[in-house]
Amino acid sequence: MSEWVKPAVLFSEAAIQERIRDIGRQVTADFDGREIAIVGILKGTVVFMADLIRAVELPLTCDFLKVEITKDQRIDISFGPETDFRERDILLLQDVVDTGVTMNFIAGHIQEDWKPRSLRIAALIDREEQRKVDCTVDYACFKVNQDGFVVGYGLDSKEKYRGVPYLGILDKRKT
Ligand code: IMP
Ligand code: MG
Repeated sequence: MSEWVKPAVLFSEAAIQERIRDIGRQVTADFDGREIAIVGILKGTVVFMADLIRAVELPLTCDFLKVEITKDQRIDISFGPETDFRERDILLLQDVVDTGVTMNFIAGHIQEDWKPRSLRIAALIDREEQRKVDCTVDYACFKVNQDGFVVGYGLDSKEKYRGVPYLGILDKRKT
């Protein structure tokens, strides 16, 4: 097992809470009284979900889905939720959107299979400049351009660091 290195602070707990409050206000205004189906992609969004749902002043439901990258690099979605999403307004939560490949794939499947009324995406970290495929993040907590691997606040590097309370950055060689 690789060593545990204390990640350098990228965004403090206070900075995160401030952005979550901003996004909560924006979401509350944008959905304009409608009920939201909040869907988090496991496991990186559990902390984000816990904070965001307390910052949104609207009726909402919470579900999670699991996405796995198979050995042959295919993406597999296990549809955890039993909720019916037809005609629902979905807010999909993702930890990091980098090349956009993962999110583009998941969003495409959700549109086709669930046929929601609308689908918006919220990401904790948006690396806009790294996109290889089309993927619009409607609510980005933080846009990041710098190198390194982001961990903490639910985000992992090989399952470590999820419990770090702030968003930290690791040198890529140490992940
Ligand atoms: P994409 O498909 O290139 O957009 O990569 C997104 C996925 O890669 C995310 O769901 C994360 O699980 C993972 N990922 C990419 N960069 C980071 C990072 O800096 N920290 C943690 N996970 C990351
Ligand atoms: Mg991960």
